Amino acid sequence: MNTEQIINNNIVNLGYVIAAIFFIIGLKRLSSPGTAKNGNRLASVGMLIAVLATVLGNNIFGWEWIISSILIASIIGVFSARKIQMTAMPQLVAIFNGLGGSASGLIAAGELYNLIEANSEIAKDTTITIMISTIIGSLTLTGSLIAFGKLQEIMPTRPLLLPARNILNIMLILALIFSAIWLVIEPSYTPFIIAAIIALILGILIVIPIGGADMPVVIALLNSYSGIAGAATGFVLENNILIISGSLVGASGLILTRIMTKAMNRSLLNVMLGGFGVEDGASAGSGEEETRPVKSIQPDDAATILGYSESVIIVPGYGLAVAQAQHQVRELADILKNRGISVKYAIHPVAGRMPGHMNVLLAEANVPYDELKDLDEINSEFQRTDVAIVIGANDVTNPTARTDTSSPIYGMPILNVDQAQSVIMMKRSMSSGFAGVQNELFFLDKTMMLFGDAKDSVENIVKEVKDL
Ligand code: TAP
Repeated sequence: MNTEQIINNNIVNLGYVIAAIFFIIGLKRLSSPGTAKNGNRLASVGMLIAVLATVLGNNIFGWEWIISSILIASIIGVFSARKIQMTAMPQLVAIFNGLGGSASGLIAAGELYNLIEANSEIAKDTTITIMISTIIGSLTLTGSLIAFGKLQEIMPTRPLLLPARNILNIMLILALIFSAIWLVIEPSYTPFIIAAIIALILGILIVIPIGGADMPVVIALLNSYSGIAGAATGFVLENNILIISGSLVGASGLILTRIMTKAMNRSLLNVMLGGFGVEDGASAGSGEEETRPVKSIQPDDAATILGYSESVIIVPGYGLAVAQAQHQVRELADILKNRGISVKYAIHPVAGRMPGHMNVLLAEANVPYDELKDLDEINSEFQRTDVAIVIGANDVTNPTARTDTSSPIYGMPILNVDQAQSVIMMKRSMSSGFAGVQNELFFLDKTMMLFGDAKDSVENIVKEVKDL
């Protein structure tokens, strides 16, 4: 290496170090809703520095490819960020995870092609990293597509259990290990293609038996996989920033997976084995029409109950995000507080469709952070509370999670809404939540159903409370 190349390398590595610092500070800032936007911007600047250092520091041929790819990707990125509904964000994350994984796998495939066509001696560590990148990348692609289908509800969200699936998976894993060893010993296209196809199939088979309610864990895990695939590709290309950024994504995805499994009271193994609480060939939901009677009220009744109470806990869920009722909910809380009523928000860690969904939504309406109480903080307070008002939440309040061992949500910690003196349940119909199971809370004597779109219902309650 001549002096000029050494200086060039050092400048590129300096760029990478600066980019890595931006990534780490950006990630740190993402951990709180107040600093998250700034964290996102910092991480984006880091990525720009990393891309510039890579393209300027290397002898790049084919600028037209790079510039047109950046243009096309930027258009898709801006379009999807602007168009996507907040409630569809997890699906977008699922697709991005899949694209990240497939990009890593394709780059590894390209590198293998270059090495084989050049007839050069291929080092064992190179084939190992190519294999890791391809296997994890392919698995992430198809697994993410299935997760997308479940989240978008274009596929059944319940666990789909194939007969003899465990034996099939074990056989595929053995074949995968065999082809991976074959590629390392004798690098050629055949073992590579076999391994890639098996990994694609395994991605599907691993995610289809996982029920909708466990999707938060799956998304976090696939996110981590996409990072690991990226880091492995970094080793293939000997690119430091890809190794660093891939490792950061891999590690943060794993931490998120841990947080999610804890929130769902599941072990990771239990989630991955899938079909929890469901027998082979059975579905999670019974599918039977519900005929039991429920108590139904109107907004003026709800206003009277709320307006003359002393303490209220608001329980937001996915329906709040669908209705975009966060501003109306904040207004309701304000007028109740003006009447001297204590108002708190109970935030379940998997309420909504993405980690922190409710926090982000309520922060948008400037709800003070100190009023948002997480599950551990609030659960003992329900029994001392006059009214729990459930706004578009369902699974996270379902008491059967405590008792019904055959339920797909059995064991998930829930908000103790059923322990409040009375419960107002706001939703549009009697339909079940994301997990596809009926909520026994609806049928308790203390529960009153207020049917309708959450935004309209809260608006009407606000009007009525003002007139009390
Ligand atoms: P869900 O159990 O999904 O229930 C949401 C309820 O909102 C539904 O029962 C729906 O009933 C109601 N709803 C929908 N639109 C509405 C509107 N415009 N106005 C009023 N109500 C409306 O929600 P949850 O309690 O927040 O639980 C979250 C579930 O999603 C859990 O099973 C969780 O595991 C899963 N999940 C979570 C995540 C993360 S990370 N948070 C990611 C993926 C999946 P109607 O149709 O009758 O109105």
